[in-house]
Amino acid sequence: MPAPQYTRRVAKHPSPVCSGRHGSCRFFEVTIMSNAKMIAVFGATGAQGGGLARAILDDPDGGFAVRAVTRHVDSDKAQALTEMGAQVVAADLDDEASVRRALDGAYGAYFVTFFWEHFSPAKEKDEARNMAAAAKAAGLRHAIWSTLEDTRLWVPLEDARMPTLMEHYKVPHFDAKGDSNRIFTELGVPTTFLLTSFYWDNLIHFGMGPRREADGRLVFTLPMDDKKLPGIAADDIGRCAYGIFKQGEKYIGQTVGIAGEHLTGEQMAAALADAFGEAVDYRAIPPEVYRGLGFPGAEDLGNMFQFKCDFEADFCGARDPAVARALNPALKSFRKWLEINKDRIPRGGEPSPDQ
Ligand SMILES: NC(=O)c1ccc[n+]([C@@H]2O[C@H](COP(=O)([O-])OP(=O)(O)OC[C@H]3O[C@@H](n4cnc5c(N)ncnc54)[C@H](OP(=O)(O)O)[C@@H]3O)[C@@H](O)[C@H]2O)c1
Repeated sequence: MPAPQYTRRVAKHPSPVCSGRHGSCRFFEVTIMSNAKMIAVFGATGAQGGGLARAILDDPDGGFAVRAVTRHVDSDKAQALTEMGAQVVAADLDDEASVRRALDGAYGAYFVTFFWEHFSPAKEKDEARNMAAAAKAAGLRHAIWSTLEDTRLWVPLEDARMPTLMEHYKVPHFDAKGDSNRIFTELGVPTTFLLTSFYWDNLIHFGMGPRREADGRLVFTLPMDDKKLPGIAADDIGRCAYGIFKQGEKYIGQTVGIAGEHLTGEQMAAALADAFGEAVDYRAIPPEVYRGLGFPGAEDLGNMFQFKCDFEADFCGARDPAVARALNPALKSFRKWLEINKDRIPRGGEPSPDQ
């Protein structure tokens, strides 16, 4: 079989010191003959896909190449991926034909949906169907679908212990993903179902970090009672996905759950205190209080945390850090993640340098 070809956009810099904005850089396309297996990475400019793209690009002899899929090929993040050696292509999950084109000639793909961009589980299901149909049509050899539990299998809609949301869901951003698993199976797409965990990066970007109280004390609030929360550094998700691709067919048809660690709120607060060099108190609030906090998605997240508490054994049991470490030997613990990221976490009132 002839070696697959692909074109790659390469930047030519006028000077060895590039501003990074490429105003005066010229791009040209080169055709590359490669035996590398091409992985089309959706969300490559984001957290999960970005971790996978960097994992592949950091391992040039690993036998894989990256096709970074984005809606905006000229964005700074897309151009940075080009610089790192990815092929960057345009596609939108809502346009199946564009998804199909993005998969052309690829060996595999990383599929993820972006609930927090639109808050619509119905849209997430449509997008999953677009990806599965395109994967089937393209004859992909291996798809990884980033999924979560359909919580209605544990808490049916008529179960009153948590409210039903949007008429059909308990945890909309979980249920739509879990429900979509069957689309990949029904269409016969060779798929690994990757169960992800709470990103510790939510403490930086999602407003979940500790807040400073009026008395000056830092308080870390989470509706997790004394239960363990499986967490992970967001970029380790993609690095575990790379470990799955590297294993060939081993995980096709399987569900693989990953976490960096399972920690209680007390344990997370203690690690935060050590990282910051000041006391951090853990405050467990009930899920119904969290559901009433009023920010977009508060009810969904309140139900999610309640699900994680009420079914702690199942939820933690499905996400074994030892499995994640075998796939990604550089897997970070929470303390290691804090060592790298502690200065990016807003501490109530003080804005994060990222925001
Ligand atoms: N936060 C958590 O703790 C957590 C834990 C587990 C799972 N999750 C799930 O993770 C998912 C989000 O993944 P992420 O955190 O990696 O996302 P992210 O960092 O927010 O990245 C979003 C990326 O998605 C791309 N994108 C958005 N809409 C698109 C579309 N219609 N077509 C093609 N690309 C699109 C964007 O790329 P361009 O702008 O370049 O097109 C962007 O780079 C959510 O569904 C969430 O439920 C989150």
